[in-house]
Amino acid sequence: MTSSSTPLRLPPGPDEAIRIDVNPETLDALLTLQREYGNMVAITTPRGRLVYFINDPDEVRRILVRRQASYGKGPGFARVRMLLGNGIIVSDGDTWRRARTMIQPAFSRQSVHRLIEQMILCSRKRAGRWRDVVAANGVLNITREMNEFALELILRSIFGTDYETHIVSNGSNPFAFLSDDSARDLGIVLKMRNLRNLLLEIVTARRRSEPHDAFDLLSMIMSATDKSGEGFSDAELIDELITLIVAGYETSAGTLNWAWSLLAAHPQAEEQLLREARTLLPNEDSITFESVGDMQYAQQLIEETLRLYPPVWIFSRQSLQDDSLTDFDVPAGTEIFFSPYILHRTEEFWPDPERFDPSRFGPQGKYQKGNRPYFPFSLGPRRCLGEYFSFLEMKIHLGYLVQRFHMETESAVFPGLDLGINLRSRNDIILRPSVQQFAK
Ligand code: HEM
Repeated sequence: MTSSSTPLRLPPGPDEAIRIDVNPETLDALLTLQREYGNMVAITTPRGRLVYFINDPDEVRRILVRRQASYGKGPGFARVRMLLGNGIIVSDGDTWRRARTMIQPAFSRQSVHRLIEQMILCSRKRAGRWRDVVAANGVLNITREMNEFALELILRSIFGTDYETHIVSNGSNPFAFLSDDSARDLGIVLKMRNLRNLLLEIVTARRRSEPHDAFDLLSMIMSATDKSGEGFSDAELIDELITLIVAGYETSAGTLNWAWSLLAAHPQAEEQLLREARTLLPNEDSITFESVGDMQYAQQLIEETLRLYPPVWIFSRQSLQDDSLTDFDVPAGTEIFFSPYILHRTEEFWPDPERFDPSRFGPQGKYQKGNRPYFPFSLGPRRCLGEYFSFLEMKIHLGYLVQRFHMETESAVFPGLDLGINLRSRNDIILRPSVQQFAK
């Protein structure tokens, strides 16, 4: 295909070299390129590497689904690897396939249903804290609250009873810096190394102890074996645990942060969510996977939040071999970028794209799976493993807390976007809670 006799079919693009990275400046640069060159853009980096920026949903689908084996994770993942080790999110090829097969059962529906108790417990604990804030007539840093909520939940889900005995046993949570530190600097890499020692202690203690009856994700993952009957080594297990903790809390926390902010700004959406929650989850005993599964409006509200603010706002891939798209060639080594944030807001597919409108996703809504570009959880074999977990977690959290608290926005100023590896709000979102008063 790329023989010297046939010229390469390259998309249009700028003559000058451009640096494309996963950082805040990239969004503006990509939007400008899309405006000037259309849905397929070829860029050369200052180091002479070829980069494609793709805004064509069919080509994105092709790369993520049908031709997935021809693409590895791209350049943005070098930084993630530095932080998380070679866990399932960054690994490729046989290492990834083995990890995926071994970890997937822990995220099956039956398995996630066994974590509903933890989801209720973490929501109940937030309600306790928020009641004190209401009593003191205070405000909530909802960004921090959501970080703490989602971090506690993923740690309890992974470690079960070890959360109390090994993690918060000294009165503080050694993982807390993950949700406190907004700057992703070298300091965090060192702190991550210390966490690995703690994880090794937990894993070693588990390997020595009798199998315990209580269910948690760690026991599922530790008992998983590959085709040759081997389990994860300690080092592999620790990479996977760190990966699951970070992947499992930042994304859900970010989504809930935006969801609360949108609810505070859209009283009709709050009222509709509240009505549904009162009907389906009137008390803790009624919170089951069936009742949560029936929360159609909560589902739509979260889907619309993820359309506007997809935590993984940009994807990168790199072609492992020569490939071709419909009209263009992709030489081996080409770096590929595409952005759910941009595609989810493209007017051509999403009319009035800036407007928050959960009805887009309802049974009567215009969105049907596959007819519009929508991929907050990616697509194909590398699709997110925690999608079901996160929907259950977010629906229980919102359904539980909206029945108890009404939120008012403290500032009309948009908090801004922090476009790092994950999309977060640049400034923390502050809301004023009060006791939920909407008429029954
Ligand atoms: C709102 C919540 C979430 C969103 C939007 C989200 C999004 C994503 C996306 C886009 C990817 C693919 C990244 C890529 O291919 O470059 C991914 C992968 C992954 N996610 Fe999530 N995620 C969420 C929650 C979770 C949770 C709660 C967990 C675990 C507890 C989790 C575990 C994973 C894992 C293990 C992968 C790697 C899958 C693989 O490569 O085989 N995610 N996620």
